[in-house]
Amino acid sequence: MWRDPEKIKNWTSADASELYGINKWGADYFSVNQKGDVVVTPLGKDKGPQISLHEIAKEVEDRGLSMPVILRIENILGSQIKLLNETFRNVIKETGYQGEYKGVFPIKVNQQEQVIETITKYGKKYNHGLEAGSKPELIAAISMLDNREAYIICNGYKDEEFIDLGLNAVKMGFKCYFVVEVPGEIDVILDRAKKLRVKPMLGLRTKLTTQAEGQWSESGGDNSVFGLTISQMIDVIDKLKEEKMLDCLHMLHYHIGSQIANIRDIRAGAMEACRVYEELVKEGADMQIMDFGGGLAVDYDGSNTNYHSSRNYSTEEYCYDIVESIITVLDKNNIPHPTIITESGRAIVAYYSVLLFNVLDISSFVPHPIPEVLPETTNDLIENLIATYNMVAPKTIQECCNDVLFYRNQSRQLFKHGQISLREKALAENIVRHILIKISKLAVTLKHVPRDVHYIDMLLHNIYYGNFSLFQSLPDVWAIDQIFPVMPIHRLAEPPLNPAIISDITCDCDGKIDNFPDYDHDKKLLMLHDLKENEEYYLGVFLVGAYQETLGDLHNLFGDTNVVSVYVNDDGTYEVAQELEGDYVADVLEYVEYDVKAMKNRLKALAEDSIKKEFITPKERKQILDSFNEGLRGYTYYEKE
Ligand SMILES: Cc1ncc(COP(=O)(O)O)c(C=O)c1O
Repeated sequence: MWRDPEKIKNWTSADASELYGINKWGADYFSVNQKGDVVVTPLGKDKGPQISLHEIAKEVEDRGLSMPVILRIENILGSQIKLLNETFRNVIKETGYQGEYKGVFPIKVNQQEQVIETITKYGKKYNHGLEAGSKPELIAAISMLDNREAYIICNGYKDEEFIDLGLNAVKMGFKCYFVVEVPGEIDVILDRAKKLRVKPMLGLRTKLTTQAEGQWSESGGDNSVFGLTISQMIDVIDKLKEEKMLDCLHMLHYHIGSQIANIRDIRAGAMEACRVYEELVKEGADMQIMDFGGGLAVDYDGSNTNYHSSRNYSTEEYCYDIVESIITVLDKNNIPHPTIITESGRAIVAYYSVLLFNVLDISSFVPHPIPEVLPETTNDLIENLIATYNMVAPKTIQECCNDVLFYRNQSRQLFKHGQISLREKALAENIVRHILIKISKLAVTLKHVPRDVHYIDMLLHNIYYGNFSLFQSLPDVWAIDQIFPVMPIHRLAEPPLNPAIISDITCDCDGKIDNFPDYDHDKKLLMLHDLKENEEYYLGVFLVGAYQETLGDLHNLFGDTNVVSVYVNDDGTYEVAQELEGDYVADVLEYVEYDVKAMKNRLKALAEDSIKKEFITPKERKQILDSFNEGLRGYTYYEKE
């Protein structure tokens, strides 16, 4: 489609929407306006205000914050919390379910203070609580959650200090639950509870046999590391009975993985857990709550399938499956319906953040013209390539594909063995490019295209160098081949004509994005525009609010990016709710334990020595020391003069 001359001639922003699939993965929060800018509608499509991301990016730079920037759109967080809570409420009403829904947000999914603050603000109305998996997360939860009706769920391995923190929260009136994850934990909890004279609130994490497909399948099943086997659960129950504390056990919890793409796995897990819950009631425990863990997926590629970067269900279907599983299992024995908790993290925060960056340069695929007079060579490689170029025609397209790939390989071999020079290799590469382009252009006009042409298309890409670090801002792209939607945030009324992959500015060959949601041409390439002189070209990576900020690292010492949080007003204006400056060079050096003061002193001594040796003048010494100090105060990413 992208080489179709008719399409290119009549291009509109609607074609761009189709090309990048924004109406599929944008969840009605993101779309393209007529002018060709990506706009955000935080209350949903056709509902309320609309803001251009390009306008925001320009204002951010005018304010002096350089790219890359994490842009957070506060109201989206509010909309996602509302969506989950109100969908559960509607399903509960529709099905006549007797319990209620009270979600918790797992802090690990995005621990930033501003994120937790915004979640507790929007979640208050629904008594949406927090999940903590460590002591610092529990301290954050207790200090941020100004609502005693909401739950604090403590998962993970717990030492005495962790347990004391939770018990003190119970003393202060919080509904703070310890989920017993490993057998030894119960003794410590009971011991500390006796010492602090407080009745603990307890849950058990069960290891289900159900395993969900996808990246996190090991979180469920017999080999999962957390959770109690059925016989370990029996041991804990016996211990509680012995201590006359079975009335402290109110909750069953399980988690079989994040990003569960297939609704059948969600239903299977829920049904199995409900059976365990039923048995706990029969054992005499005062059961009141079922915690279904995380797993509610995000449709990153917009395909609405059970592919690992998608999900084959809606939020409504998810809620129905959970509620109906409970009703189906528990109603048989007239067991009261429990309060439902889900620890949905990804689905709450993913849409809220967009990574914005500018493109610094392009390594282009466009070849130089073929010289009219060819240099004399000692072998027939160049002549063969020219003959192949002249031979490209509908009937010979397969043969030309074979030949060009053969001669491309031959030129490499000849160079390795010293049989052609650097210039001859450059010329051969250039002619190869001309042949590939000619084949690729011809293929568009043919009804039946040989399969090899698709491979040839893959060789025809440009590299766009983006001002960001994949390892800092999109670690899951590197670690687990996560797919995120990526697209330009402006110029979308112009046809993008360059197939591209994106490289970051770390000097690591893994620092690239070369897998995109399944856009219509080929998912391995992204169509992008030429750069214009004196005009920034901005790209956005969408749906990055979950896990990316917390897992990012300092590879190549690229630090935290600038963060800008905006709140979109009802009248279509927006306010910058918060600006956070990213790391300075001195900050990242200190993170890896450099003593910046000592570094400055060492440089001074080196400069002094250079004067003595007459390498530099005293004036040059000043310039060198000034630029060193300025470097330490600079942003770690590429900055404009
Ligand atoms: C125990 C637990 N709860 C909740 C979550 C959050 O999962 P998700 O982001 O898929 O909602 C996780 C993450 O894997 C987890 O380990």
